[in-house]
Amino acid sequence: MKFLILNGPNLNLIGKREPELYGVTDFLVYLESLRRFYSQHEIAYFQSNAEGDLIDQLHEKALDCDGILLNAGAYTHTSIALADAIKAVDTPVIEVHISNVGAREFFRRRSYMAAACRGTISGFGLLSYELALLSFLTPGK
Ligand code: DQA
Repeated sequence: MKFLILNGPNLNLIGKREPELYGVTDFLVYLESLRRFYSQHEIAYFQSNAEGDLIDQLHEKALDCDGILLNAGAYTHTSIALADAIKAVDTPVIEVHISNVGAREFFRRRSYMAAACRGTISGFGLLSYELALLSFLTPGK
């Protein structure tokens, strides 16, 4: 199967940024291990700090993959445009967060992504991505 991990703003700094919240592992290092472990599947990756780029990726890549793992970063809490883009494509999208957004500041409790996504996985560190992947790989989901 083919998957796309779509990471939004500031997630290029995972491993360096606020390590007490997001850990010390570089995302690309984690991605390598994920690809190695799930080598029978294809895991494409795209990160951008720009909302429009993320929307373009959803439009362009959705048809080409079986599932999308989206960590929209702070756009989660602000972007109706990104929520509309998720609704515009047929491919299932899972909302992923490294930190537990429900246990943080009040403004992080609202997600514009949630209603457009198949489900949300939040608070398990980088393992959140693998849990989302596993849900796609689990028959019946
Ligand atoms: C995040 C949570 C967001 O609230 C925050 O803006 C991020 C990262 C997470 O993965 O925990 O940039 O999406």
